[in-house]
Amino acid sequence: MHIIVTGGLGHIGSHLILQLIKKNKNYKITVFDSLLTNRYATLFMFAKYKNIKFIEKDLSKSNIDTYVKNTNLVIHLAAITDAQSSILIPEKIENNNLQTTKNITKSCAKYKKNLIFISSTSIYGTQNYIVDEDCKKSELKPQSPYAYFKLKEENIIKNNFKKNKHRGVILRFGTIYGYSIGMRFHTAVNKFCWQLYQKQPISIWKTAMKQKRPYLSLKDASSAIIFIITNKIYDNQIYNIVSQNSTVETILRILKSYDKKIKYKFVNNKIMNQLSFEVSPKKFINKGFVFKGNMKKEIFKTLKNLQKFS
Ligand SMILES: NC(=O)c1ccc[n+]([C@@H]2O[C@H](COP(=O)([O-])OP(=O)(O)OC[C@H]3O[C@@H](n4cnc5c(N)ncnc54)[C@H](O)[C@@H]3O)[C@@H](O)[C@H]2O)c1
Repeated sequence: MHIIVTGGLGHIGSHLILQLIKKNKNYKITVFDSLLTNRYATLFMFAKYKNIKFIEKDLSKSNIDTYVKNTNLVIHLAAITDAQSSILIPEKIENNNLQTTKNITKSCAKYKKNLIFISSTSIYGTQNYIVDEDCKKSELKPQSPYAYFKLKEENIIKNNFKKNKHRGVILRFGTIYGYSIGMRFHTAVNKFCWQLYQKQPISIWKTAMKQKRPYLSLKDASSAIIFIITNKIYDNQIYNIVSQNSTVETILRILKSYDKKIKYKFVNNKIMNQLSFEVSPKKFINKGFVFKGNMKKEIFKTLKNLQKFS
């Protein structure tokens, strides 16, 4: 089986691809990445594996029809992924993220190839109750250009599904925590790990301490994708992929159990007016998937890997 992974050098891709070839040595993976974020470390790690091929390409500007034609599946991860700073660069997000998804879905439609698209629970924005995939369109309140365009990208793909142009799934991932070689540190849990490692106070959005948000273990993220491939769940559905809904208070408690001396400070943030929101992964659990994410274990692993350099 031949699989294309776009944006495969990043935080999720660098974990997922190793899990894929561990699962099946016959998988042949072609990774496309623009190196926009310079994850060369992942590239050096991939060099050890003969069944991983790397192609540098900006997919917002390129057509990869010839590759898609000869593949069985496209896992589309490529995106600019910093929701917070996307507020300053909405046009760049549109030109990169939306355009890349348009190009990829066009190729999948042309050759009727399965697509796994990674969306985000941030498309829910502010919610008063625990939300699921049936949430009304009018209730979706993306709070950043990143989330706004994710929703647009979802709609393009849903439209393709409806018109039977190709099949696939849309996975709304919670905020990822957990170690990988291509990891980044700008989202909540990972940023806190980095600050702890640097002996800086943990910076917490003023409103966030007791708010619940959806999180996803990196291991669960990769397992969910492998579960879809193994069980051929290309049913054109949207699934929330969330290991747990947690407060910052809970995360701080875990960090404190690693280092009693941690300090924190409250900071302002442009998108902090989001209220608490909890996301239900029941629909995916009902498919038979078991979430095993253990936040404490994965935070400790990240910190231990960082502290090798202390
Ligand atoms: N990490 C999270 O917390 C999280 C949560 C929800 C959804 N997601 C989604 O999962 C996907 C992967 O996330 P990640 O955390 O691995 O992100 P990441 O930023 O670590 O990796 C994204 C990769 O995409 C590449 N890329 C960006 N634009 C590209 C383009 N035009 N052409 C080719 N490559 C391009 C980058 O160079 C980078 O290597 C993204 O679509 C993201 O929106 C991530």
